[in-house]
Amino acid sequence: MMLRSKLNYFILLNFYLTIVVFGYQDGGSLFSQISQQPTTSFPVTENVDHAKLSEIDDCGPPPDLQYGELKEVYMDTNKFPKDNIVYYKCRPGYAPVRNTKTYITCLGKSQWSSPDVFCNPACGPPPVLEYGDLQENFVEVAYFPVGDKVYYKCKPDYVYVQGTKKDITCLEELEWSVPDIFCKPAPTCGPPPGIQDLEPKEAYLSRTSFAIKEKVEFQCRPGYTFSLFRFRNIAASCESNLKWSFSHPISNTFCKRKSCGNPGEIINGAFEADDFTFGSKAVYKCNNGYRMLTKRNYRECLADGQWSNITPECEAVICENPSALTNGYYSPDKDQYEYLDSVKYSCHQGLELIGEASVYCTSDGNWSSNPPECKVVRCPEPESVPNSRKTSGFYGPYKLNFAVTYECFRGYQMVGSTSVKCNVNNEWEPALPKCLGKCLLEPPSLEYAELDENIFGKTFLEDSEVSYRCREGYEPVPGTEPSIKCLGKKGWSTPQRFCTLRSCGNPGEIENGRMIATNNFLFKSYVIYNCSKGYKMISNSKLYCQADGTWSSPPPTCEEIICATPSITDGTYSPEKMKYSEMDLLTFSCNGNLKLIGDHSLHCVSPGVWNSSVPECQALCDSPPVIENTVLEIQFADSSYFDINATVQYVCQPGFSQMPNTSNTITCTNNLTWSTPETSCLRRSCGNPGEIPNAQMEATDFLFESKVSYHCLTGYKLATSINFRQCQANGNWSEIIPACEVQTCPVPHTGPKESYRPQKKKYQYQDSISYKCHDGLSLFGKTSLTCTEHGKWSSFTPHCKESQCDKIWAIQEEMRKCTSTPDDWIKYLQVEYLHLQIENLKLDIEWKKKGRKQ
Ligand SMILES: *[C@@H]1O[C@H](CO)[C@@H](O)[C@H](O)[C@H]1NC(C)=O
Ligand SMILES: *[C@@H]1O[C@H](CO)[C@@H](O)[C@H](O)[C@H]1NC(C)=O
Ligand SMILES: *[C@@H]1O[C@H](CO)[C@@H](O)[C@H](O)[C@H]1NC(C)=O
Ligand SMILES: *[C@@H]1O[C@H](CO)[C@@H](O)[C@H](O)[C@H]1NC(C)=O
Ligand SMILES: *[C@@H]1O[C@H](CO)[C@@H](O)[C@H](O)[C@H]1NC(C)=O
Ligand SMILES: *[C@@H]1O[C@H](CO)[C@@H](O)[C@H](O)[C@H]1NC(C)=O
Ligand SMILES: *[C@@H]1O[C@H](CO)[C@@H](O)[C@H](O)[C@H]1NC(C)=O
Repeated sequence: MMLRSKLNYFILLNFYLTIVVFGYQDGGSLFSQISQQPTTSFPVTENVDHAKLSEIDDCGPPPDLQYGELKEVYMDTNKFPKDNIVYYKCRPGYAPVRNTKTYITCLGKSQWSSPDVFCNPACGPPPVLEYGDLQENFVEVAYFPVGDKVYYKCKPDYVYVQGTKKDITCLEELEWSVPDIFCKPAPTCGPPPGIQDLEPKEAYLSRTSFAIKEKVEFQCRPGYTFSLFRFRNIAASCESNLKWSFSHPISNTFCKRKSCGNPGEIINGAFEADDFTFGSKAVYKCNNGYRMLTKRNYRECLADGQWSNITPECEAVICENPSALTNGYYSPDKDQYEYLDSVKYSCHQGLELIGEASVYCTSDGNWSSNPPECKVVRCPEPESVPNSRKTSGFYGPYKLNFAVTYECFRGYQMVGSTSVKCNVNNEWEPALPKCLGKCLLEPPSLEYAELDENIFGKTFLEDSEVSYRCREGYEPVPGTEPSIKCLGKKGWSTPQRFCTLRSCGNPGEIENGRMIATNNFLFKSYVIYNCSKGYKMISNSKLYCQADGTWSSPPPTCEEIICATPSITDGTYSPEKMKYSEMDLLTFSCNGNLKLIGDHSLHCVSPGVWNSSVPECQALCDSPPVIENTVLEIQFADSSYFDINATVQYVCQPGFSQMPNTSNTITCTNNLTWSTPETSCLRRSCGNPGEIPNAQMEATDFLFESKVSYHCLTGYKLATSINFRQCQANGNWSEIIPACEVQTCPVPHTGPKESYRPQKKKYQYQDSISYKCHDGLSLFGKTSLTCTEHGKWSSFTPHCKESQCDKIWAIQEEMRKCTSTPDDWIKYLQVEYLHLQIENLKLDIEWKKKGRKQ
């Protein structure tokens, strides 16, 4: 599209010595007119007053333009004489405008011609695309005017997409239009497949894609060669379906291993090989008695068809002469010993041959064993074995293999060999045995440790040890050995105390409580916590130290004991507080005369409850009042409280009766008092019990519980056990009716000399009897007796006797004659009087006694 031209003008002004180079490229067509101008408008003038000229006609620096800048050639110049022309170029971001001038002319007197707008804002470089490259003629252009198009072409391996545009346009906004996706990756074949030992030639190996119709040639892998000549030109081509097609039918036998031929036979040896082709190995071996001279014993068939290494060689094995003995010799003695030759060693007299007596030359050129030694063997006297006796080998000298045998004393056990022999090193072999005592008792059982092994059926010999492990809750004491030793018959060593009780450590104090029981914090010990007054315990109070050294639980916590504020309707309580602590006491009372049902006072107890339920205030009457001589009907007797309108019924006690036409009920009224009782109970009357004969009645009234008494008249006595009647609850008098009967006197007793009249079976009050003596007899006592009111006779019973009166009077006459004086007589009479009086008294006493008996 573009015409490319270069025009250079060299203008030499001898007084400025300035070379101005004008150069431009691209857009040549739009400058084609301008390019001719300088040739005509740059006259070369000579012999001019330069200073003056410059002063008058110098234009000074050309103007700065927004869209254009002076070409570089004017950089060092500041003198622009009249008619001088300066060229601009577009500033970055601007593109030239067709058919405009890019220069201005100095008109003189500091006047420049007015410039064209020769550059417009432009599009920058077109975008770089993944699938396309700019066509070459756009590559070097930096800015494109609005409306210009640039053209792309597809990148290698991309193909044009039919119906798309390959160009973009610089838009008014100075941006490029969005390009089409006008190329897409060209379809290719992947690398061709390898077939067995066939592979593409090196030139293709690194490529990953192949164009359609492209051809790939093949060769055999190193070490392989074509099995047939005609396979030499095997090739594959990428088909339009992107699959590879081979020039020959595919086969696994295109290539075969290269052959190296026979690797070569050797003398005194042979080789083994699977075959002679590439990769196989021939291993050489020398015959017995020969050994390989060469370094390597094998040859390998290489890719180039050659065997590696050289053909191995074998040579005969020779043993060096056997070593001479210091105190012996060998035979036969030869110049050279070959494979399997043997020699025999012998010692001088009295010496022992230690080692192999006969040796032979082996295939590796060494003798079958080291030469023997000849030396004197004498073992020392064996040390005595305690608690044993020898059973053989009592005396030396102890030559090689001399044996000593031992037997332990009874009760000891042998450890080691019964028999020991003298060996070549003058030592007893094996070591001398020991006779060890036994521990008869089992290892002791320890409080703090238990045996660490099963000792069932074991015997414990002197010096043996048994180990213990700590029992549960115990831990080892550092620096002690948990074992004891058997000291034979002395028994077991005394154990160190190698375990101690495990400690759980102090579990610590708690808030609002304290530890009240503790000892050492060791295993199995415990601590007990208690909460302060007013606090309760949450979780266990007792902690045990456990076997693993931890406490059975964390210490408990103490929580304040708080009782909830109670609620009571129709009542109050005191004191009123925000919260109630343990032992706080509340006293309840009811409004008005309501009754408090429940406890009058409560106290707060652990764990924060009142000791009883809150009482209630209820409208109730107390028990009904006690009314004299009455009892409550049985169904009301047990109740303590009665509802309003409740009615209770009274009944009179036995012996009492209700007032007629009155109510025997009372009612619980609204103001919680009982109504006033209407009725009362009065004592019942039994009526007049009546008089009884011979008695006088005495009574106050005839009501319940009263007594009526009867008194017998004089000469009468009570015939019943009681003398009264009592009014009973049933209204009847007590049953026994008192009675009075007349008094009687006993029938008097008489002797044979007297009798009385009248004679009756029974004598009662006021009856009289009179006595009479038989003839000639005189009556002593009262003649007549009366029965008194007390049932007794009025005097003692009289009796009759013979009368002595005549004699007594005669005696008295004689007595008077016998008395000489009247005084004697008087004396006598006084004595007689006394005598009579005494007689009379005696009789009286006797009577009285009889009366009492009756
Ligand atoms: C043969 O003897 C030499 C020297 O004592 C030793 O280094 C070598 O290992 C021996 N060879 C064999 C196979 O025992
Ligand atoms: C534990 O505390 C309560 C009060 O909180 C007290 O009555 C009791 O006696 C205490 N027990 C002991 C063993 O100290
Ligand atoms: C509750 O405590 C109060 C005051 O100590 C006492 O009078 C009452 O009998 C107690 N009640 C019970 C059920 O223990
Ligand atoms: C008691 O009886 C009266 C009359 O029958 C009645 O008006 C009142 O409501 C009753 N009171 C109660 C508490 O039952
Ligand atoms: C008791 O009541 C009955 C019947 O209501 C009546 O006939 C009698 O006169 C009353 N007696 C007394 C003492 O009021
Ligand atoms: C009970 O109430 C009645 C009437 O409603 C009244 O007459 C009586 O005085 C009251 N009793 C008491 C103890 O308040
Ligand atoms: C009272 O006495 C009468 C007459 O003797 C008798 O019939 C009646 O059963 C007695 N009553 C009682 C309760 O004993």
